[in-house]
Amino acid sequence: ANETLLKGKVVLVTAGPTRERLDPVRYMTNFSSGKMGYSVAEEAAKLGADVILVSGPTDLPNPIGVKTIRIESAQEMLDEVMKHYGKVDIVVKTAAVADYRPKTVHAQKMKKQEGNAVLELERTTDILKTLGEYKETQFLVGFAAETTNVEEYAKRKLEKKNLNMIVANNVTKEGAGFGTDTNIVTIYKRTGEIVDLPKMQKREVAYELLRQIAYELDEGV
Ligand code: PMT
Repeated sequence: ANETLLKGKVVLVTAGPTRERLDPVRYMTNFSSGKMGYSVAEEAAKLGADVILVSGPTDLPNPIGVKTIRIESAQEMLDEVMKHYGKVDIVVKTAAVADYRPKTVHAQKMKKQEGNAVLELERTTDILKTLGEYKETQFLVGFAAETTNVEEYAKRKLEKKNLNMIVANNVTKEGAGFGTDTNIVTIYKRTGEIVDLPKMQKREVAYELLRQIAYELDEGV
């Protein structure tokens, strides 16, 4: 590995799931383990970058040499990311952020009642879209977890969120997506270039992704 590829760059990575509380004992979340994002943070540090990792709840230890900030909800992730955004060069958003949260967070444990219950959800803020709106010189990389029409949806997100690159994983494929040690991704660039990667360890995906980012930065795209 080239230990100077990202020297002098500040890289902000988000990882893991978010947790959206319903009451003091219950929450909504998803199957993200944090492995993809922690791999990106670790590899970026190895390539000489200054790395800030904003992480939802995971079982993983803080990566060595990485400033790790633990948060819980989508709102907390947004607040933490915005705090650092002005001074970063590259953002990689691997986190699986909740799109919805319970509209009411009950102060007391909700009691069982007769019959079914209906839960009202409200939208969270789209962090990546917000970053795209405030983008100055930052190189913005999103991830897209899709189950159908992977290319179409990924390209739509690249446009809509004003990204430089999006990494799509078809999470229905064996060995790709949530929880696994491997991933199968396709990188779509703003320039129109598409990089299809075979099944690899998440660590290798991270390295290849960072190499692609460094290349684009060099090209001044
Ligand atoms: O953590 P692992 O177990 O290793 O799994 C890795 C992964 C499957 C979580 C990862 O590879 C991945 O695909 N992450 C993105 C998951 C996701 O939420 O995709 P999305 O298509 O819903 O969101 C698109 C992008 O918008 C993502 O970069 C996401 O961080 C961002 N987003 C989404 C919603 C929201 N409210 N704010 C956001 O910033």
